[in-house]
Amino acid sequence: MSTSPTTTLTLRRPDDMHLHVRDGEAMRAVLPFTAARFARALIMPNLRPPVTSAAQALEYRRRILQALPAGAHFEPLMTLYLTDRTDPAEADRARAGGGILGFKLYPAGATTHSDAGVTDIRRLDAVLSRMEETGLVLQVHGEVTDPDVDIFEREARFIDAVLAPLAARFPRLRIVFEHITTRAAVDFVLSAREGIAATVTPQHLLMNRNALFAGGLRPHHYCLPVLKSEADREALLEAVAGGNPRLFLGTDSAPHGRAAKEAACGCAGIFSAHGALELYAEGFEAIGRLERLEAFASEHGAAFYGLPRNSGRIRLIKRPWEVPASYPYGAERLLPLRSGEHIAWQVAEEPPSAGTGAGSTDMASP
Ligand code: NCD
Ligand code: ZN
Repeated sequence: MSTSPTTTLTLRRPDDMHLHVRDGEAMRAVLPFTAARFARALIMPNLRPPVTSAAQALEYRRRILQALPAGAHFEPLMTLYLTDRTDPAEADRARAGGGILGFKLYPAGATTHSDAGVTDIRRLDAVLSRMEETGLVLQVHGEVTDPDVDIFEREARFIDAVLAPLAARFPRLRIVFEHITTRAAVDFVLSAREGIAATVTPQHLLMNRNALFAGGLRPHHYCLPVLKSEADREALLEAVAGGNPRLFLGTDSAPHGRAAKEAACGCAGIFSAHGALELYAEGFEAIGRLERLEAFASEHGAAFYGLPRNSGRIRLIKRPWEVPASYPYGAERLLPLRSGEHIAWQVAEEPPSAGTGAGSTDMASP
């Protein structure tokens, strides 16, 4: 093993399999950060009103493509917002739509813009059967919403109360347990039946719940699921560094204007798109497994979703940079993760070599 520290890292262009880009001016402010790093992203449907139909998703997809900076090569992948009233035929329309990968389950009240979400998953058997038959994937926000359950226990409770029974009732349904935060979730996913995977965010790999209270209340470190204990963080980092193909990159970058975050009742969501890949590199480096970043970021997600691998490359350099205090966000300002502090890695300005087809894809090798 080489003892010299790695100073550059060239990867296949990655995919962000869980991203909030919002809409309109807000979208135009944040989308360039993602398009500069990722070839594709799975776009979350929790707009107001939510994206509940294939027709709405295709419209939203078109708006995203129009908002891309000139010359960007980026493909939005879509998912529909599941409600108590989702028509099973919507699964067939989604399948036919092209570029729609599945449905997102928000338990009603679990997080930002989830009030139209599902009150009881057992009422959705017909939709879930259609998804299982057509190969659409269920993306799950995995937290129970009972206000009597301790907020740090809501994910673990969800596994036993909802997710494990659901996976058993629909044995061929493909499920992504989104933004997992606990050792319990890692254990569940790694020992679950085939067809179950999970995304992991940079914040849950790099911070524990102390970051919510470091020297005072830190609203910009508040997201859902909330940051967990150091033991949970270590379990997540060890699991992704272990290289299991069931775990892949999904930033959950979730921008909110400053006023919505710094309020008596502040919104959940951490914006990380300005340094997403670089932050994951810090995590993998900290555990001495930088060589495992590429599979986590650029291979496992595509393989789970049955998508071709991206053929372009992106290069990271180990050179600390200071994150701006804030970025413009429509008429507001947005405070990014590490605002005014440093990120150890940066994306190289120039592409690693000419002619790598930054926007194209090639077939995954077996
Ligand atoms: C997300 C948002 O703001 O849309 N917030 C968050 O804290 N992650 C919603 C979500 O994914 O839970
Ligand atoms: Zn999210």
